[in-house]
Amino acid sequence: MADTEIAAAIKAALATVEIPGGGDLAGYAGLSEIIVTTSAAAFAIAVAPGMEAAFGPAREAAQRAAQQAAGTRKVMVSLTGGKPPAGPTFSHGKPVAAGKTSVPGVKHIIAVGSGKGGVGKSTTAVNLALAFAAEGLRVGILDADLYGPSIPKLLGIEDRPTIREDGIFAAHQAFGLKAMSIGSMLTKDQAVVWRGPMATSALRQLLRETDWGTLDLLVIDLPPGTGDIHISLFQQAEVDGVVIVSTPQDLALIDAKKAIDMLQRFAVPMLGLVENMSYFIAPDTGTRYDIFGSGGAERAAEAMNMPFLGAIPLVTSIREGSDAGKPPMATDPSGPEAQAFRAIAQRILASAANLRN
Ligand SMILES: Nc1ncnc2c1ncn2[C@@H]1O[C@H](COP(=O)(O)OP(=O)(O)O)[C@@H](O)[C@H]1O
Ligand SMILES: [Mg+2]
Repeated sequence: MADTEIAAAIKAALATVEIPGGGDLAGYAGLSEIIVTTSAAAFAIAVAPGMEAAFGPAREAAQRAAQQAAGTRKVMVSLTGGKPPAGPTFSHGKPVAAGKTSVPGVKHIIAVGSGKGGVGKSTTAVNLALAFAAEGLRVGILDADLYGPSIPKLLGIEDRPTIREDGIFAAHQAFGLKAMSIGSMLTKDQAVVWRGPMATSALRQLLRETDWGTLDLLVIDLPPGTGDIHISLFQQAEVDGVVIVSTPQDLALIDAKKAIDMLQRFAVPMLGLVENMSYFIAPDTGTRYDIFGSGGAERAAEAMNMPFLGAIPLVTSIREGSDAGKPPMATDPSGPEAQAFRAIAQRILASAANLRN
């Protein structure tokens, strides 16, 4: 069946679901658009604050009805509008804020963000994840850049995620990492325009309904800027810290104040700044050229009160490797590019030593 037919079948099935106050879910104004991809179907039910519990049975009935219509696709349905549901109050042995829950099997989370797109955030996230793995950690990567998912391409993941019988995604395996991305559920030219609540619901399910096995560290590739996804992630999961990626030219564009305010609000530590495409190494001679002058990022980081984590060279091998699904950190672990990523991972582990526990 075509995606649009599935969406219509799900909508029809939702007409059998009663909602509090009378009426059915298909005709309910708070039902979002139904998004269907090659392996999932997602929708959200917006409810007034305080109504979440009353809508619980309707949500479950919706899940069952939609699953019948969706066949082998995984149905992702969420209630939105209220506070996130309260979960366990302890995670990693320390109290967490109300509403935050730990991710099953995952000990620590760090997120990689940027002020704008195209700065190499995803490239950095993937290679950093591999660098942490090279330090002996069990590592996963979650593509939370729902608006521009690129982790499947970077890791050469071509197949769809499989869905276990209990409805949990089996994570992809690539270069020793566990990986999950909405990108591998989309057809080549399918652009999914998420609405706010849909995106946060998809994020919640990618995060929590994936079998991560046991991970010491989950690296999350955030969308650029500061938006819904960031807030949703920081609200619902305990994030150990955030790494910001910037190019020398875009340093001025980092809305540091906004990002720092947001991190403070959710008590998420800033791990520091990575400068990408920082200097150029001539392929023939190996000479380093500081094309943008040197030390700029370090000074900028200092001015913004962020630790400086290191610089990554601008080299075609990174672009070509990334485009081909062969991250330099995996294919040439002793090369200069890999060394740059490893130095950054080691600096992060030195400053946040608890990540190893
Ligand atoms: N250090 C680098 N040297 C050369 N090309 C790079 C480097 N970092 C990233 N790129 C290339 O820049 C482009 C954008 O990188 P990407 O990681 O997708 O950015 P973002 O996630 O910030 O949008 C990609 O084509 C990538 O291969
Ligand atoms: Mg990206």
